[in-house]
Amino acid sequence: MSQHSQRKDDHLKLAKMLFFSSHNELNQVHLMRPVLPEIALSDISLTIKLFNKIVSAPFFINAMTGGSANAEVVNRRLAQAAAKENIAMSLGSASILEKEPKQLNSFLVARQENPHGFLFANVNPNTSPKTAAKIVKILSADALQIHLNVLQEIVMPEGDRNFHWLDNLKKIQDSVEVPVILKEVGNGISKKSLAFLKSNGFEYIDIGGSGGTDFATIENNRREKNKLNFIDDLNLSTAKCLLGAQENPPEILISSGGITTSMDIFKSLILGADFVGIANLFLQHADSTTNLIQLIQQLKSELTTLFAIFGISDFSSLSNIDYYLDSALFNYFKQINTKKVD
Ligand code: FNR
Repeated sequence: MSQHSQRKDDHLKLAKMLFFSSHNELNQVHLMRPVLPEIALSDISLTIKLFNKIVSAPFFINAMTGGSANAEVVNRRLAQAAAKENIAMSLGSASILEKEPKQLNSFLVARQENPHGFLFANVNPNTSPKTAAKIVKILSADALQIHLNVLQEIVMPEGDRNFHWLDNLKKIQDSVEVPVILKEVGNGISKKSLAFLKSNGFEYIDIGGSGGTDFATIENNRREKNKLNFIDDLNLSTAKCLLGAQENPPEILISSGGITTSMDIFKSLILGADFVGIANLFLQHADSTTNLIQLIQQLKSELTTLFAIFGISDFSSLSNIDYYLDSALFNYFKQINTKKVD
């Protein structure tokens, strides 16, 4: 097995093992419920348009894997569940295909199992625009995610050491015919960085906050010595990223990072997210397609219940829900909004 394929398997194993309960700080956000919601459960639909396709819920399976035999098994199950429930799904980084084209099946399986569903392809920021366009075409991807994972690369002994990424990101966006989403991988995007990405023409952003899968920890676990634990201090939680996006949101804002419950999804939407990405929670249930389907159905049913409790019949009324923040989060919110960021 190649070093790259081995890394994909290590990620699956370590991410599954190191996933613990959420510190995404959404528990510091408290919702205020109307006493008279004036709604019936039958009035509620979670159906929503994601770029070119209608999906059955505002949450999706975020990028995880591809590039090994194990990855193929996981992608098959994820894709079967996504197809059955009509939720969107992202594949893990396909940049491995530049050097190892024989790994294509571990990605292609997702399209084969889900020919009509919404599928995101995913590449790293160094991928050549030509390869990115080829990957989108081969997978018939509906959109392309590009991960911005500086901290992960730094901790990886074999990771990137050159972070001149912006020009290539723009070139990829110009070369592919589908929307491009820039995403963090669980370390968060600050208010200032978000404004910078927007000013460079990127309007679809997944804030990828901390509180769930933490690649600094995962990569530190793969290191035998010289662990770079000091990097943990640089994380920005999902709740903080969402608050940071409120003043000047991108056209499509995606919340992710430590999303494990329907309440996390609901709070993300109320804080301003248009969609919510969930990775590791799905990995925890990926021992069978049936378990994945049950999880998706449970999240949908609970989210519908939350919409009912709060009298939400359409997504636009989510912004009317009042909430308050615990003092630590409120303090952060005040600080980022008094400091000029652009
Ligand atoms: C990931 N993630 C990820 N992201 C990405 O853009 N490309 C990738 O190839 C991968 N690979 C990957 C493997 C595994 C096993 C996991 C669990 C995650 C990151 C993922 O999409 C997400 O941003 C983070 O995991 C945070 O979300 P959760 O896991 O806390 O819901």
